[in-house]
Amino acid sequence: MMVRRALLAALLLASGSALAASGEAASSTAHPALWPAAKSPPALTSPATERRIAKMIAAMTLEQKIGQMIQADISAVTPEDLARYPLGSILAGGNSGPWGDERADAAKWARLVGEFRKASAKAGAGIPMLFGIDAVHGHSNLPGATIFPHNIGLGAARDPALIERIGAVTAAEVAASGIDWTFAPTLAVPQDLRWGRSYEGYAADPALVVAYARAMTIGLQGPLLPGKPLAADKVAATAKHFLADGGTDGGKDQGDALISERELIARHAQGYPASINAGALTVMASFSSWNGAKNHGNQSLLTDVLKGRMGFQGLIVGDWNGHGQIPGCTVTDCARTFTAGLDLAMAPNSWKGLFEATLREARDGTLPMSRIDDAARRILRVKAKLGLLGATPVERGNPALVGADAHLAVAREAAAKSLVLLKNNDGVLPLRPGARVLITGPGADSMAMQAGGWTITWQGTDTTAADYPKGQTIGRAMAAAIKNAGGSAAISADGSFKDRPDVAVVVYGEQPYAEFQGDMPNIAFRANAGEKDMLAKLKAQGIKVVSVFLSGRPLFAGAELNLSDAFVAAWLPGTQGQGVADVLVAGKTGKPARGFTGKLPFPWPVDAVSPVKAPLFPAGYGLTYASKAKVGPVNEDPHVDLVASASEGVYVALGKVPSPWHLSLDPGIAAKAVDLGAQEDAQAFAWSEPGAIGIDGPPVDLMRQLDEEFALKLEGRLDAAAGPIAVTMAGATLKVEPAAGPLTLRIPLRCFHEAGGSFKAVGTPLKITGEKGLVLTLRSASIEGVGQTIPCPAK
Ligand code: BGC
Ligand code: BGC
Repeated sequence: MMVRRALLAALLLASGSALAASGEAASSTAHPALWPAAKSPPALTSPATERRIAKMIAAMTLEQKIGQMIQADISAVTPEDLARYPLGSILAGGNSGPWGDERADAAKWARLVGEFRKASAKAGAGIPMLFGIDAVHGHSNLPGATIFPHNIGLGAARDPALIERIGAVTAAEVAASGIDWTFAPTLAVPQDLRWGRSYEGYAADPALVVAYARAMTIGLQGPLLPGKPLAADKVAATAKHFLADGGTDGGKDQGDALISERELIARHAQGYPASINAGALTVMASFSSWNGAKNHGNQSLLTDVLKGRMGFQGLIVGDWNGHGQIPGCTVTDCARTFTAGLDLAMAPNSWKGLFEATLREARDGTLPMSRIDDAARRILRVKAKLGLLGATPVERGNPALVGADAHLAVAREAAAKSLVLLKNNDGVLPLRPGARVLITGPGADSMAMQAGGWTITWQGTDTTAADYPKGQTIGRAMAAAIKNAGGSAAISADGSFKDRPDVAVVVYGEQPYAEFQGDMPNIAFRANAGEKDMLAKLKAQGIKVVSVFLSGRPLFAGAELNLSDAFVAAWLPGTQGQGVADVLVAGKTGKPARGFTGKLPFPWPVDAVSPVKAPLFPAGYGLTYASKAKVGPVNEDPHVDLVASASEGVYVALGKVPSPWHLSLDPGIAAKAVDLGAQEDAQAFAWSEPGAIGIDGPPVDLMRQLDEEFALKLEGRLDAAAGPIAVTMAGATLKVEPAAGPLTLRIPLRCFHEAGGSFKAVGTPLKITGEKGLVLTLRSASIEGVGQTIPCPAK
């Protein structure tokens, strides 16, 4: 079955191509007969359940039915609200924790869910609400949970049975915190790796996504059994994001997929029939558009294809205020998404307005009663299958399961299997017993870098080691393994050492990011922390260099590859650093616990130009310890101007002001290039009289960044202080007084907004005004995603 489908996909791909080339009209109306057929298993419901649901619906008021169709976020709703607004579902977004606590443990989550559940059961029709969360690589919002490699690393493992076990562990831990629904798996098939969510996709090969879609759905939910609810350690899965989230033009998040229907089907739709056939209870609509039409409002996709041709009997949930992006809609008013087929709108902070508008539209007939009843029926069906509607509801919530040893062992295995060996000249790896090893680089002891986005916080930023009580960093795990095998190992942040090592393991790569913050103008690795110099310095001393590269996608890193004797693509392996040590370090016997089995899930680029055409290493590439192949030297030219192609939120990068911005200096301010971490990677500004440095350029709209709690980040060094520094953004000025020395300053955009800044058409995004005597060195100035916890500077 799987083979046949893969073959079909290959045939379709061979004949289909980009829209322009195929000569097809750019239509956004699907033809269901062209799509693969599927069917929710009959066990998803039963005649008795359907009769019960019909009775319940007949007894419900209109308010109660509309309430079922709306989902609010815990940051903007309380259990008390449910008495007046009988909402059907509650979610916790990436930055939302119980009572504002992002570090809450499982018991606290269970308490919160319990309160909402009690309130919903008391209100109106007495139907318990459904609680959803993004457990996208384990129950990743919880400190102490088992955190797996992100999906791209699992794609490298090519092991559906492992995926099913990961699903089971994740479900057990989600259920352990009282929650009954995860917004996973992501079935995207990323085409353009500039997309910041590439790591949420398993692979470029639809056939692998098909196998994983099935495995993860079964792992999370278990097989659906007739007449029985999901077990207490199982949760509802979400196949997301329907459709072509990974196919948008230029890899733009929430963008537009300009492709033929054939390509949409062959490349992007394949995982859905597999997940639906396996019993997926929910599907999430994508933010993205297809040929100009927003999926949240596309009836041919949501109703005709998904519910019709694919026989999907569960509920379709929207994405975060995604309905508000349909032309003619706002986040608080959008009948059109429901008429198109959406059953449950994700209205995190807009739920009240949406409830009222939808109620009005139901009363005046804009939204037909048949559609409302269908939505309510699907939502109740999912609740019934989760065991929420019975006389004795299924109780989820055994906190002891979070981070259980057996779970951590699965994550360790997954981390090991996700590693891909790109280069191993002269057999530098595995590290021999007794070796003297230096472990260094910005990622050597950084849980945040190895865990990536969607971990504790939404963007994965602003975490500390204390947030991962059940994890070990790659550096620490390797040091322990090396010592265990009779060697010596030192972790040094800056690459310095006392005793000359035989080998240096340098761990580096991307800093954490998630949605749209991770979009890039090209696929070059930006070595902002002096990584290249560090590799070169070690190499020049005759020390063997092993690169362990942490990234959410394959990135052009030609120079780094050439400076390394061995290079390991480690993706975002999660919290179990021992999995990396198991493969890289030989034990006392002279053999490592595991060999390299991972293969590239996407092609590795030969330069920074995207999309990848002639890759350096094709998908499927990956060396083993048996291979003696020599790699390199490889191309080091990115073939794009890296500075000129930075984006609208980057004002200073490596000390330079990238286009479209330019620097303006008041008289009396001198600028010169200086070295902070690497050669001329920063610019020092010295004020000999009061004045400002400005970043000028074309007006840009930064509303989205404002809405999502982003911050301005200045990074460098304060060489000489001279009273407060005035930072102006979007026309509003705030004063800060950092201490002299290394500088990392973050000011939430919200603070500028509250001070009167307008983010609609920002022309001079940034201005820094100082007094005579100020000397400020900037390495970077940019907008960055952060948790909601950073306070504003005192006025
Ligand atoms: C939430 C995320 C959500 C995002 C939408 C954030 O504030 O925490 O869960 O996905 O907004 O853009
Ligand atoms: C993301 C979804 C996520 C949702 C809830 C959205 O912004 O696109 O993947 O499930 O937020 O956090």
